[in-house]
Amino acid sequence: MFTITRSKTVLSALVLVSVGAMTSATVVANGYGGPYGFGTTPSAAEIAMIDIDVMPDGQGAPAGSGNYEDGKAVYAAQCMACHGADLAGVKGTGAAALIGGRGSLDSGSPKKTVESYWPYASTVFDFVKRAMPFNAPGSMTDDEVYAVVAYVLGEANILDKTATLDASTIGAVEMPNRDGFIADPRPDVFNYD
Ligand code: HEC
Repeated sequence: MFTITRSKTVLSALVLVSVGAMTSATVVANGYGGPYGFGTTPSAAEIAMIDIDVMPDGQGAPAGSGNYEDGKAVYAAQCMACHGADLAGVKGTGAAALIGGRGSLDSGSPKKTVESYWPYASTVFDFVKRAMPFNAPGSMTDDEVYAVVAYVLGEANILDKTATLDASTIGAVEMPNRDGFIADPRPDVFNYD
């Protein structure tokens, strides 16, 4: 019994060593380096693909633009099925109401929506670009995202319906709940202001 167990152990150790050796030889042959033998430094193009965040002041916002009228068409085609014609959400889709609830957050029945809760227009842009439409996230052009955000903010009476939303204007939009968040006081946390 003892012998069998021991030889099994030795055998698996040998297999592990040879797999290990083969793996690092393979990665080195493929031009990978570093102490663990895997991973590469991302290229500028690879970083650009995921570096799409937009800051509250509009920093990072891409080129392009959109307005309420164009956004109305985008909304009807790509959002309405789930968020509803009145932007109140459609039961059964899980899609939230996007407007309404303003001033309700400190009441007994807070209603969190883009209009009542979200602090910056850039957050709306960023989220919609990354995550919506729910069934095809990331499929919209930047013009479409600007337009549909202008439409949602227009319906929420936050943005003038004749305004153009682009990199130079998105940081100036004043959301109703922009002062409703408090800074995180922990010293190792960066607070954007
Ligand atoms: C297939 C259904 C569907 C479609 C189409 C869709 N959404 Fe959504 N949306 C959802 C769901 C479900 C959530 C909740 C997602 C979550 O909590 O992660 C959501 C959440 C959101 C939110 C966040 C709301 C909040 O307060 O948390 C916004 C903003 C939004 N959608 C905008 C849009 C826009 C703009 C479009 C069109 C371009 C769109 N959605 C298309 C289903 C959809």
